[in-house]
Amino acid sequence: MPDVVFEPFKIKSVEPINFSTVEERKAWLKEAGYNMFGLPAERVMIDLLTDSGTSAMSHNQWAALISGDESYAGSKDFYALERVAREIFQKDIVIPVHQGRAGEHLVFSTLLKKGDIVPSNSHFDTTGANIEDCGAEALNLPTKEGLDPFLVHPFKGNMDTEALKRLLKEKREHVPFVMLTITNNTGGGQPVSYRNISEVRKICDSYSLPLFIDGCRFAENAYFIKLRENGFNNLSAKVIAQKTLSLADLVIFSAKKDAFANIGGLVCLNDPELAERLKNRLVVTEGFATYGGLAGRDLAAIAQGLLEITDEHYLKYRLRTIEWMVERLAAEDIPVLRPAGGHALYIDADSFFPNIPPENFPGIALVNELYIRGGIRAVELGNVAFGKRDKDGKHIFPRLDLVRLAMPRRVYTEAHAAYVVEHIKALYRERDKVSGWVFDKEAPVLRHFRSTFKPA
Ligand code: F0G
Repeated sequence: MPDVVFEPFKIKSVEPINFSTVEERKAWLKEAGYNMFGLPAERVMIDLLTDSGTSAMSHNQWAALISGDESYAGSKDFYALERVAREIFQKDIVIPVHQGRAGEHLVFSTLLKKGDIVPSNSHFDTTGANIEDCGAEALNLPTKEGLDPFLVHPFKGNMDTEALKRLLKEKREHVPFVMLTITNNTGGGQPVSYRNISEVRKICDSYSLPLFIDGCRFAENAYFIKLRENGFNNLSAKVIAQKTLSLADLVIFSAKKDAFANIGGLVCLNDPELAERLKNRLVVTEGFATYGGLAGRDLAAIAQGLLEITDEHYLKYRLRTIEWMVERLAAEDIPVLRPAGGHALYIDADSFFPNIPPENFPGIALVNELYIRGGIRAVELGNVAFGKRDKDGKHIFPRLDLVRLAMPRRVYTEAHAAYVVEHIKALYRERDKVSGWVFDKEAPVLRHFRSTFKPA
């Protein structure tokens, strides 16, 4: 049998790509202040800015939209979503919110106080920002394998459990709960093993602490476990997801990722007393407890998406897409993060452009060139996004200067992926011809969103 992994769907509705020329894109990029976030999406050919909210919905999701029940209280689609979410997340209580960070805000503003510490394998940036907004510290405890961009290891998303034990031994009273992000987006879309989650659970138990999971990409994580962890090959991705999520006391979920939805999120938990407090806040900030800031049709689309996401034909194709791209780039010695993550490929921009000094932002050079040459939109998650200034205005750079190309779910085909790979390869061959950038206007926070640039 030929082993060809192909897109596990037929395409029945299409959205044409607006083709453009290099000359047009040069002018548009200048207009956008040389910042990808300043570009109207219609001027982009292949949009890999994020995998969040950008999925293609199935015909069953579109059908669910039409039959969505828009009642203010007790929409039938809330109950449908509650049924599906209880089964997947293994929790009794399901609270809808308008997206993941709204769930983070709801939970953290209810539970955290100044001086608290929240350890995680790695917090996503909105998660960290919402924790710090409450005056608490967002502490990342990745493993040393997770910090090496080119080391091949099956579970680079794991938490350093020894570091967690040390923290709790010294500062237990400052830690209200422990978090795990699956997969670990900040660490390169890398998975967390079942064993690591169980170990963290045991440590939490020994300190009587709850474990919270940020489960945005729970299905991708489950399929990685199936492929890579001993003893899991014969279990379905759905069962692995259930086993994993049942280890958590509370799950925060952005339905914009592993539910194929364009908007939405959930907070799922078992503690009725905490749920009461969350629902009382929810009605002030998001909406009544059976819609949480969403339309009934959104609840319906999420419920249907959750039924589809654990399909193993889909998950196999999903993980293979990124792996296929990474294999082709690694074969040319292009510094791409290894092994392939679940939702995105990451390039180490500093190694890609050794001729561009860090203060001239190799990552901006990379994303700008990919846009001009191929109409491809990627995001800098390196010196600009995570860099800071010291009190004398000197740059402080993050450990890795990365560029992320995130694949929206079910949107692009293998030919689109090949087009992106060929553009990266061609750019790498001509890397000596590319020069760097400096800020034109530097935004005070989250600099990648609103800064503009000029040639160095
Ligand atoms: N947690 C993780 C791991 C995420 O990746 C994101 C969003 C969130 C929480 C917040 O969810 O966007 O629904 O409010 N990640 C997107 C990205 C934005 O591009 O990686 P949200």
